[in-house]
Amino acid sequence: MNPTHRANAAPAVRLAHLSDVHITARPLGWRRPDWFTKRFPGWINYRWLGRAHRFRRADEVLAALLTDLRARPPDRVIFSGDATALGFEAEFVRAALLLGVGSPEALPGLAVPGNHDYYTPAVQRSGLFERYFAPWQTGERIDGTTYPFAQRVGPVWLVAVNSCTGNRAPWDAGGSVDAPQLERLGLLLERLEPGPRILVTHYPVALSSGQKERRTHGLRNLTDLVRVAARGGVCLWLHGHRHGPYCLPSPSFAPFPVICAGSATQYGLWSYNEYAIAGSRLEATRRVYAPGTRRFEDAGTFELSLNPSVAEAANPGP
Ligand SMILES: [Fe+2]
Ligand SMILES: [Fe+2]
Repeated sequence: MNPTHRANAAPAVRLAHLSDVHITARPLGWRRPDWFTKRFPGWINYRWLGRAHRFRRADEVLAALLTDLRARPPDRVIFSGDATALGFEAEFVRAALLLGVGSPEALPGLAVPGNHDYYTPAVQRSGLFERYFAPWQTGERIDGTTYPFAQRVGPVWLVAVNSCTGNRAPWDAGGSVDAPQLERLGLLLERLEPGPRILVTHYPVALSSGQKERRTHGLRNLTDLVRVAARGGVCLWLHGHRHGPYCLPSPSFAPFPVICAGSATQYGLWSYNEYAIAGSRLEATRRVYAPGTRRFEDAGTFELSLNPSVAEAANPGP
């Protein structure tokens, strides 16, 4: 990553945003009750209906990605969920290992779960994601509750929101943010010191077309979360869940831009984003995996203006 310097200005904050790595393991560690949950149809889909094939080189790509991150170390790695395929503990172990979470040379990070990491209500209750990604979940909190939490990187605040729920129905990949977490988010945004607020969660505000996600694949109470975020001065929403990357500078359903990192490991889509933020300017570089060289390479840039009026209105400063 090339740091951006401006005359008489602080160096840019440099972030690396990756998502949806969907790492699996063998053996998975099936237990008898698992066969009677959505894990069974999920496994059929994964093993026999093409999903495993789409992630067949995930381990190799993630290893290359970690090498790339270490060669161009960002100020913070942002992981926006779906570490695993079916939320098995063996998958969390491997995903955390491949991302270097908790290793002695670990990069500083921030992580939120994806719907695959809360594959069933029991997996959500197990706290496996939070256990294996704990080193990437430190930060400012309200009353010691896990979500939301915020990390400061230079002048920027990264605010992690959990938007996933363990669902019973095999066809339900939707999520929501419950009322207590929304209330804590409002309080947290109010209490943080001045600085741009960037919200990180798994679900999108909108599809790449600008249309809303369908209810069984999206954030069920999107309007509530957008309202609390906007009121608290959020000037950018980073997410995953959709596996193709995109950016919406002014989506219809939110007063701030949104960026989807896409999947870092899905065959042919494998990419992640680097962001350099200086003042209200964000410069993004998309890094794509090149299977020939087994390395990540630059594949395009875009820029965004992080609405200072929104950020300043909520953070007037001293
Ligand atoms: Fe995903
Ligand atoms: Fe997802």
